[in-house]
Amino acid sequence: MHILGIETSCDETAAAVVRRHGSGQGEILSNLVLSQTAEHAPYGGVVPEIAARAHIEHLDRLVGQAMMEAGLDYQDLDAVAATAGPGLLGGLLVGLTMAKAIALGHGKPLIAVNHLEGHALTARLMQEVAFPYLLLLVSGGHTQFQIVEGVGRYHRLGSTIDDALGEAFDKVAKLLGLGYPGGPQLEQRARGGNPQRFSFPRPLKGRRDCNFSFSGLKTAVRETVSRLGRLSDEDVADVAAGFEAAVAETVADRLAMAAQAFRAAHPEAAAPALIVAGGVAANQRLRAVIADVAALHGFSLVVPPPRLCTDNAAMIAWAGAERLQLGLTDDLSVAARARWPLDVAQAPVYGTGKLGAKV
Ligand code: KG4
Ligand code: ZN
Repeated sequence: MHILGIETSCDETAAAVVRRHGSGQGEILSNLVLSQTAEHAPYGGVVPEIAARAHIEHLDRLVGQAMMEAGLDYQDLDAVAATAGPGLLGGLLVGLTMAKAIALGHGKPLIAVNHLEGHALTARLMQEVAFPYLLLLVSGGHTQFQIVEGVGRYHRLGSTIDDALGEAFDKVAKLLGLGYPGGPQLEQRARGGNPQRFSFPRPLKGRRDCNFSFSGLKTAVRETVSRLGRLSDEDVADVAAGFEAAVAETVADRLAMAAQAFRAAHPEAAAPALIVAGGVAANQRLRAVIADVAALHGFSLVVPPPRLCTDNAAMIAWAGAERLQLGLTDDLSVAARARWPLDVAQAPVYGTGKLGAKV
């Protein structure tokens, strides 16, 4: 089957076509992502109205190009999938409306995809990964653990009670005078730094739940930075390294807790997979500690390649393919949703991030 996927939930305009073979194997025929980072950089974050306008301006052409690169006509599609939430409503409306128009015009089924489900299922596009598995999603707007029991069947083990991890990286980078988005630059500066010079807190370490918290850590960094006054290159590197060390230790501790919770929920799973998705998964130091904890707890680690870890439309098309395979399609009246927890049966313990935040 061939699925067109559209992603417009935040600041990436993306369109992709994937093929799902009868064997269940996936293949990416085209995967285009147009980042709006340059448009938002002067503001130090994503401006919703600018994002929505940029989606309107570029999506039409991008979808046409994705179809052309895939060598398909709209008639060849089996369905059209678009992100319907969570995310910035203006952008979601642009993508979902276009998907509806294509579905209606060409008589194809529509699939409204939860963006988080896209992240959760991507690993199965690249290789065979059996349910159930543990997902750690660490992006600019979300930081959470999910047990992925099947398509549409999720159980959240924990999430951040304040900032998302990518958001914390971006805010700390800003405090250090680095550009936006700050994660990659902070990582680079941390390489030359001394992680022991400053001792930052390890939030929630040792707690029995699987939640995260990063606002206290961010505040500790802010206080250190203001105490230092004018920052030398060495100061920047040391603060960056200290922050990264605190994050790595915290993630390792929270992940160990989630691994145990997964084991308790699924004692039958012999060697389950741990999937790490989201932009922060690019961080090398974090990857190293995650690999250690995964090995210690008998999980096989799967980290999709960066272009599938960060926001893209191939993951939306793939989630659409998995849904279509099960006969799960949506009515044309389906609405976009700014908030849409993955595990709908489970009432959110805390907010799942900031309003308008990236996912
Ligand atoms: O998944 P993503 O591309 O976009 C969404 O949030 O949906 O994630 C972007 C986030 C940003 O906060 C960025 O600073 C962070 O991922 N990030 C990193 C690294 N690369 C990207 N954080 C730490 N280390 C990195 N190497
Ligand atoms: Zn995302």
